[in-house]
Amino acid sequence: MTTDEITDLLTEAYLDELETVMNYLSNAIVLDGIHAEEVKASLEADIQEELDHARMIGERLKQLDESPPGSESFDAQQSNLQPPADTTDVQSVIDGVLEAEEDAIETYRSLAAAADDANDPVTEDVAVTLLADEEAHRTEFRGFQKEFPMD
Ligand SMILES: [Fe+2]
Ligand SMILES: [Fe+2]
Repeated sequence: MTTDEITDLLTEAYLDELETVMNYLSNAIVLDGIHAEEVKASLEADIQEELDHARMIGERLKQLDESPPGSESFDAQQSNLQPPADTTDVQSVIDGVLEAEEDAIETYRSLAAAADDANDPVTEDVAVTLLADEEAHRTEFRGFQKEFPMD
C-alpha cells in the first residue's frame, strides 16, 4: 500500500535529482585546470545517471497514480554546489558533490524503510537500486577528495 510518506519522498527525490543534474552540468562546464579534468569527466558521466534516477522516480510516481512535479514545485537546496567563483577551486565542488550524494543516500534509505513498512516492494526495489548508485558516486568522490587534501 502506498502512503503519503512514500509519495512525498519520491517527489522530493525527483526534484533533488533534477537539481543535481543542473549543478553537475554547470560545474562540469565551468571548472578549469589540469586537476579538474578527472572530476569533470566523472560529473559528465553522473549527469546521465542522475537524470535516469529522476526518470525512474517519475515513472514510479505515475505507477502510484501520482504525477512527477513541474518546475513550480522546485525549491533550490544545494547552496554548496553552486559553480565556484574561482573556477580552479575543484575542492569546493568535490565537497559539494559529497554533500549532495550524502543527502541522496539519506533520502533513499528513508524511502527504502518507508516502502518496507508499507509492504511496497517495488518502491523499495527502486530505492535500493538508487541507493547503490549514490553510494558508488560517493566512493568515487571520496577518492577525489583524497587527491585534494584540505590543509
Ligand atoms: Fe541520483
Ligand atoms: Fe549521485
